[in-house]
Amino acid sequence: MNRFSDPQVHAVLAMDGAPQTLEIARTRVPANVTLVQGDAYQLAALEPRPWDAAFAGFWWSHIPRQRIAAFLQGLHGVLQPGAKVVFMDNRYVPGSSTPISERDADGDTYQQRPLRDGSAHRVLKNFPEREELLACVAHGTADAQVHEWQHFWALEYTLLPR
Ligand SMILES: C[S@@+](CC[C@H](N)C(=O)[O-])C[C@H]1O[C@@H](n2cnc3c(N)ncnc32)[C@H](O)[C@@H]1O
Repeated sequence: MNRFSDPQVHAVLAMDGAPQTLEIARTRVPANVTLVQGDAYQLAALEPRPWDAAFAGFWWSHIPRQRIAAFLQGLHGVLQPGAKVVFMDNRYVPGSSTPISERDADGDTYQQRPLRDGSAHRVLKNFPEREELLACVAHGTADAQVHEWQHFWALEYTLLPR
């Protein structure tokens, strides 16, 4: 996210819920990035705001389908009109992706992910189709597009004034 008017000095706020992820990020980001631990479902509490852009990488796939609308509402609430929003995530590639082990009544899919200690963990991982992504942002946005590569997809759009 970026909220400085000087195009040469972009303030970026980067959020994750886990301190471990933030520690990894801390070794990789430049000085204009502020790392915060927070809950992506509680963005209404975020200060300062508004921000003029948002990017989320490999997050959408972990949102239960039932929570996507509320998550987007919270995100859009801290962005200014005209903000650019980009999501990027994995496509399901047979033979390459961890197989889907389960699908629940909401259509959410899960993988069994092994750790080095031999344990396996059930992880929610959705692989939305292009039409589903576009339907999620059909209202209040402009220029929504989905880009697809072999292993990844990206959804981009512009937020309209409320
Ligand atoms: C697949 S990882 C992606 C991490 C990072 N964005 C990247 O691209 O490398 C998903 C991340 O979502 C974070 N996460 C899970 N639930 C969250 C929540 N409610 N709020 C914020 N972050 C959350 C996890 O801690 C994890 O780091």
